[in-house]
Amino acid sequence: MSASATASKSTGLRGVIHVPGDKSVSHRSVILGSLAQGKTRISNFLMGQDCLATIAAFRAMGVPIKVDGTRVTVSGVGLDGLKEPAAVLDMGNSGTGMRLLSGVLAGQDFLSIMTGDSSLCSRPMMRVVAPLREMGTHVDGREGGEKPPLVIRGGKLRGIEYNSPIASAQVKSSILLAGLYASGPTTVSEPSLSRDHTERMMKAFGVDLVSDGLCVTLTPGKTLKANTINVPGDLSSAAFFIVAASLVPDSAIILRNVGINPTRRGVFHILNKMGANIECSHQRESGGEPVADLTVRTAQLHGVEITHEEVVKAIDEIPILCVAAAKAKGKTVITGAEELRHKESDRLAVMASALRELGAEVEEYPDGMAISGGAKLGSGTFDSHHDHRIAMSLIIAAQTATGPLTVKDTSCIDTSFPGFFDLLQSIGGNSTREESA
Ligand code: S3P
Repeated sequence: MSASATASKSTGLRGVIHVPGDKSVSHRSVILGSLAQGKTRISNFLMGQDCLATIAAFRAMGVPIKVDGTRVTVSGVGLDGLKEPAAVLDMGNSGTGMRLLSGVLAGQDFLSIMTGDSSLCSRPMMRVVAPLREMGTHVDGREGGEKPPLVIRGGKLRGIEYNSPIASAQVKSSILLAGLYASGPTTVSEPSLSRDHTERMMKAFGVDLVSDGLCVTLTPGKTLKANTINVPGDLSSAAFFIVAASLVPDSAIILRNVGINPTRRGVFHILNKMGANIECSHQRESGGEPVADLTVRTAQLHGVEITHEEVVKAIDEIPILCVAAAKAKGKTVITGAEELRHKESDRLAVMASALRELGAEVEEYPDGMAISGGAKLGSGTFDSHHDHRIAMSLIIAAQTATGPLTVKDTSCIDTSFPGFFDLLQSIGGNSTREESA
């Protein structure tokens, strides 16, 4: 069964909503909880397929994990307590799951094999495979280790100093997780600061870790202590509703309990530059992460330049920002975003072509695109390319389009945002889902 959805113009989005828990924080809470001693209690866990695949992988390695609604209790087995999985670990659609687990598996004295769906099996893995090999693990995969499935025979590792050529939290986190199993300190530096959830959470679990600008050093040897984690709402999921409320006339919505980690805040900077009306209130800490309530009202957006530095801090929000740009006054130019070609789909190509088909003027570059805004978006039928963020971006675009817009294969939305359609409907958005065989 696959589900398609047809969405159309809405008139005024209103209400108070909670988006589901943060995907990055949810993955990490299960990983570190599994490697800790004692019970880690997680609330507001993201019950998306990506994070469920991470739970399944740790269960397959002998970690007792209880799920009750969005509460998860992980009975940690300690750094050396994982068992060889009896079967291949299926990471589904999740690049984060596969890359972060590679780091953990690199330190295990057993054989493991990870695979995923066709999208994941076409994504680049050498970015983690190369440094993990340098640390001393044996990793193989298709195309010499560039593509999954990955076969890992872990064991004793040495600490390395790694200068990552890309700003990627997945790469940084994979190496830091392997660093827990190394004989000496591991340092990772990156060209600009990617999301720092791993660093924050590792410190909370008692790992000896020092961040210094673009550099982070982990010294192994500490036992991880179980923790209590209340996962903040996912800013990347909130972004769809922030843009929707900005674009749909006569809208005013409140999003409660959204994570506003500074390394993720690019979407605010960009939307504020574009003239959005977003108010951040009731700022507080939750699970070692800053959170706030956001009030968003309709605003006339205008085109801006979005640079590489901003892209890194809004890496998952670029597709929905492209929709905002298409409706803004004037031109938006995005550069330094070629990493988007390596996500669940080639997000630059897919968004450029979809917006063009809807009537916008778009020039695609190898590392970004220029979007001439102010377009009247029309109608059409689009493939999600099995990419949750593409599917949701197009459903939001439809809320301001003149005609109905159909997205085929929207089941991928469940990887990161179960309940997306219900939440959209609850604030007055227009969409209907149809199951097809
Ligand atoms: C993530 C890091 C980002 C992001 C992904 C989640 C993470 O990927 O796109 O959705 O949780 O570490 P990169 O680090 O590869 O940019």
